[in-house]
Amino acid sequence: MALFKLPFTNKSTNKDSKEIHNSFEKIPEHIAIIMDGNGRWAQKKGLPRIAGHREGMDNIKRIVKIANHFRIKILTLYAFSTENWKRPTSEIDFLMKLPIDFLQHYLPELMEENVKIQTIGEVDDLPGNTKSAIMRAIEQTESNTGLILNIAINYGSKFEIVQSVKSIYKEVIHGNYSIDEITEDTIAEHLYTSHLTDPDLLIRTSGELRLSNFLLWQSAYSELWFTDTLWPDFNEDEFEQAINDYQKRKRRYGGI
Ligand code: FPP
Repeated sequence: MALFKLPFTNKSTNKDSKEIHNSFEKIPEHIAIIMDGNGRWAQKKGLPRIAGHREGMDNIKRIVKIANHFRIKILTLYAFSTENWKRPTSEIDFLMKLPIDFLQHYLPELMEENVKIQTIGEVDDLPGNTKSAIMRAIEQTESNTGLILNIAINYGSKFEIVQSVKSIYKEVIHGNYSIDEITEDTIAEHLYTSHLTDPDLLIRTSGELRLSNFLLWQSAYSELWFTDTLWPDFNEDEFEQAINDYQKRKRRYGGI
């Protein structure tokens, strides 16, 4: 694994120091990932779909570690969408147990790595034991200052936008502000992500080329990066490749 190929420091005094400084500054602050392809990964190996989800869970730990090394500030992972409730009950039950397993196994390591766990989505509607495992992890990692591991769970972007509109409407009828005062910032301030910057880079694995109701508002100017690799096989080298490609992109935000 070519872990330190990207420059981590701008302290170099050699003739390349300016270039190193620039590259360092272009590390994306927020990376969002649609972790797709667990089922196909398992199928290809003749295993049940849940084996793919378990492998996908283990991969989260590897990617969190490297994201932290790259000094990414926020890593948002799409773990369970509001549409995933349509899956067979047995698969849903398994997916709901994964955060519990993940935190049981990896919380000490995440603490050591100074990772802070947060969520976006309707966590209140999760099964009680899943919710309490997550809430405990959020509480325990609250003062950590490293990577924010933001888990999108029971998350749907359209639902999130509707909720935002509803709470703005309530504030308008309470006279907190007028309709004319509603701006793009007002909408953004009422999303789950109000405290976070928008994703700079959005990665989707498994060859699917769509956003699937993930961060629709927040990804308006995100750089998109797709790979055919199935999530359990998405490794550190490919993550680094995505960051390298991002560094070469010119972000114009509609300007020239
Ligand atoms: C998409 O693959 C993946 C999911 C719906 C679940 C992703 C969840 C994890 C990787 C683990 C979550 C764990 C924690 C700790 C948050 P798919 O099943 O749609 O794959 P397919 O398209 O090949 O069928």
